[in-house]
Order: sequence, then C-alpha cells, then structure tokens
Amino acid sequence: MRGIITDKNLRRIYDYIRACVWRGDSIEVTRKLVESSGINDALFNKIIGIVSTNFSTGSNSLYLELIKKCILDEIYDRPENRDSRGYPLFAHSMVGKKRLDNIHRIAESVLSLGVQGDWIETGVWRGGSCILMRAILKSFGITDRVVWVADSFQGLPLPNADLYPQDVGREHLYRHPLLAVSLEEVRSNFEKYDLLDDQVRFIKGWFSDTLPSAPIEKLSILRLDGDMYESTMVALTSLYDKLSYGGFVIVDDYGLKECNKAILDFRSSRNINDEIYLIELDRNDCAVFWQKIGH
Ligand SMILES: C[S@@+](CC[C@H](N)C(=O)[O-])C[C@H]1O[C@@H](n2cnc3c(N)ncnc32)[C@H](O)[C@@H]1O
Repeated sequence: MRGIITDKNLRRIYDYIRACVWRGDSIEVTRKLVESSGINDALFNKIIGIVSTNFSTGSNSLYLELIKKCILDEIYDRPENRDSRGYPLFAHSMVGKKRLDNIHRIAESVLSLGVQGDWIETGVWRGGSCILMRAILKSFGITDRVVWVADSFQGLPLPNADLYPQDVGREHLYRHPLLAVSLEEVRSNFEKYDLLDDQVRFIKGWFSDTLPSAPIEKLSILRLDGDMYESTMVALTSLYDKLSYGGFVIVDDYGLKECNKAILDFRSSRNINDEIYLIELDRNDCAVFWQKIGH
C-alpha cells in the first residue's frame, strides 16, 4: 500500500483493510500494513469501525477466544502436544489460531451483513473448526442456521485416476489413520463443549456420494479442507451454487498443488474473478478466501 490517497485508490484501501480484518489481523497489524498508503488515523478508524460493525465484544468475545484456545489445546502446558510428523496430539483442529480467527471474523461478518445460509466445512478431522462455527452461532443466539459437518470419518479416499488424475500419487494417504477420525469421536468432541444439538448436522461418506444430494438449501460459508483435487472439486461443483451472494469460500489447502489446481480450474470454468485474499502463508502451506460477489 503506497501513495497519496485519491478517490480512485480509496476503494482499494477500504477493500484491503476489510480483507485484513476478515483474515483475522488485529487493528494494530492492519494499521501497520496500510501505513504507507498515507491514510490518516481518522479515516483508518472510520473504515475499521465500518468493517468491524457488530464484531463481538465483552463476554461474547471472551467465550469465543476461550473456545479457540480449547480447540487448539492451548489451555494446559503439555510437554509434548505434537506427534513426530507435527500433527496435534490433543487439539480438536489442526488449522491453527490464524485460521480459526479467520473463521470467527468471516462468520461475524456474514451475520452482520445478513448474508443468508448455513455454514459448512468439507473435511473436518476432529471437528474443531465446526465446533467454533457452532459456538459462534450460539454466542449470538442464532437459531435459524445450522453447521454442516461433512467428512468420510475414515480419512481420504483412494485417488480416482480416471476422473481426477491430478490426485494420482496420493494413494499412500488412502484412509491414513492420522486423518481418519470417526463420527463418534467428532460427536463426542462437540459434546465436550456442550455444542452438540440439532443445529449440527453430520454428512457422513465420500463427498462424491454425499455432497451432490446433500439436503442443504443455502450456504453463506463454504469452508473447504479436503486436501485433494477431487475433494475440493466435488465440494465446489456440488455446493457453490448454494452459496448466497456475499457468502464466503475459505480454502484451507490452497498451498497443496492438487487443491490449488481444483480451485483454479473451477474458477476458470465458472468465470469467477472475485479477489482471492491470503489468510496465512506458512512455507508451502497457504490458506485463502474469497467473497462471492461476482456470480
Ligand atoms: C486436513 S483434514 C481436515 C482438518 C480440519 N478442517 C481441522 O479443522 O482440523 C482433511 C479431512 O478431509 C476428509 N476428506 C478428504 N477428502 C474427503 C472426501 N473425498 N470425502 C470425505 N471426506 C474427505 C478427511 O477424512 C479428513 O478428515
């Protein structure tokens, strides 16, 4: 962000500040990122005020921050909380704080903007991201939206070489025990937070069998975390048209080449030009999101 503020680039600065907030950056970090644009404090504060309207404060925010700490197993100092491959031993999500913050911000934005529809994650592992989504609905007293929790609950599928040759080479991950978490375990994780109720709906099975006919009417958040080309593409082709105007697609695996290719292929086949915003870049790992404002 460089230069003097003109009418022309004010819109860009506004969009950039909004994206920083949506990805979970603090006000201080955001302020630093736009410093060189020449924006003054009054204008910055005004924009932050507009884009953060209705973000939770007080006990609501304290509850959600504590939920995130529990999901990430940050409450107790354990000598060892990751296995030799770096997978969390106890945490209920492997996505990390930045990505949970992003879910939090996007969910609150959807509520404040009044974008209609349920929330879904396709690829949930131990369920942590969906637990946070349910906690957000609860904390705002929202009773007319549900969280859809879609997974095989037995890990990744065998690559389908005929339909999705992009996944060939990932056979070794087929139903890998590290990624296979049973439905019973995920349900019991929700129960631990007192968040298992009829606003949580499970969709069990391979995405190619379940998502095309899933009984979902409308979505406002579509979070993709299925690692593979097939898992990403099937979720998009089955669910993107159910995403409301103004809804969000969050892609956890944009840094994985199979997922990345599926996103680019889908966007190009549908002529989607909505800006892709970075959430987190961590060596080869990269998460992004976009808001559906084109078509
Ligand atoms: C990386 S993990 C998800 C991590 C999770 N979002 C979190 O918060 O920790 C990937 C998950 O996607 C599921 N998965 C991937 N492809 C799938 C498919 N085609 N059908 C059903 N489940 C799939 C796996 O079972 C696994 O639970």
